[in-house]
Amino acid sequence: MKVIVTGGAGFIGSHLTRKLLKEGHEVLIIDELHPYYSVARKKRQLEFAREAGEFAFFQKSLLNDEAEVKEIFLAYKPEMVIHLAAIPGVSHSIAAPNEYVDYDIKATINALRYAGQSNVKHFIFASSSSVYGEQKNVPLQEEMATGNVVSPYAAAKFGAESFCHAYSSLFDYKISILRFFTVYGPWGRPDMAITGFIKNLLNNQEITLFGNRTARDYTYIDDCITGIISAFNQTERVGTYNIGSGKPIFIEELVDYLKQHFPDVTVKQGGFRQGDVNSTWADITKAHQQLGFAPSISFSEGLAKTIEWAKKHVSEIS
Ligand SMILES: NC(=O)c1ccc[n+]([C@@H]2O[C@H](COP(=O)([O-])OP(=O)(O)OC[C@H]3O[C@@H](n4cnc5c(N)ncnc54)[C@H](O)[C@@H]3O)[C@@H](O)[C@H]2O)c1
Repeated sequence: MKVIVTGGAGFIGSHLTRKLLKEGHEVLIIDELHPYYSVARKKRQLEFAREAGEFAFFQKSLLNDEAEVKEIFLAYKPEMVIHLAAIPGVSHSIAAPNEYVDYDIKATINALRYAGQSNVKHFIFASSSSVYGEQKNVPLQEEMATGNVVSPYAAAKFGAESFCHAYSSLFDYKISILRFFTVYGPWGRPDMAITGFIKNLLNNQEITLFGNRTARDYTYIDDCITGIISAFNQTERVGTYNIGSGKPIFIEELVDYLKQHFPDVTVKQGGFRQGDVNSTWADITKAHQQLGFAPSISFSEGLAKTIEWAKKHVSEIS
């Protein structure tokens, strides 16, 4: 199948591209190599993807190169678009909220339009657990997201989900909205906690924890990719699914797991960060029943694989 992956030079996109190529799909990546984090790292992630085979790559922006990107869509005629391109990160969204309207909403509208104009059959959108905001009841089920969120990043993702519904109706194509829960693993984004902690520990530095008894449903990258591939079987016009592990880990437990690899870990308290939710916990029943999604990597296994990777790539982590 011909697939356009937007954001294919990113953390999730590079792993996804490898998987698509291994499964015999034809891939075209559109990624502007945005400097939210190191451009050198993104180029390295493209090399990592290329180890699995050849793909077309266009360094273009869904936001600032509209005419060229539209031309790429129309000429390539993809059957599927997997739209991962965005500026991620809750903290940065508080400092620069309008960037999220541009990169997470406007760029998504462009991807949706060009997908429709090039007769795409299925559009997959990377949403986020952050759309649930702060909830009293857990685990989080798909219908619990109401737009009552606590960060500009989450507001942008929730808004973009709404545009997915609108464009599915306008162009009559299928959309899968996948809400990823804190993805980690080799080539994990440098701004994310696990990557930062491992980097510090490899350099014999302390780690800073934000909040007490906070919890995250950490999803190992291979399980996230399995979740994306499982969405190929989606049969609804618009289907929304949690892609997580279904097993939240408290921050204190994370420190205990890290101690198994770095016994001398020293911890500093950094206080609660604005825009963060206290806990995330995915109910993955719907994805399991409708898509056959079943994560298979335990947290201790995923963390060990991530540390093993980090030890071999110390100079490339940031
Ligand atoms: N990693 C996670 O834990 C997580 C959790 C929830 C949701 N998500 C979502 O999954 C997607 C992928 O996340 P990631 O962790 O791989 O992030 P990433 O930053 O590594 O990848 C995103 C890529 O998109 C590109 N990009 C951004 N704006 C663009 C534009 N306008 N045009 C072209 N390219 C553009 C960037 O250069 C980058 O390479 C994002 O939409 C993110 O919000 C990620």
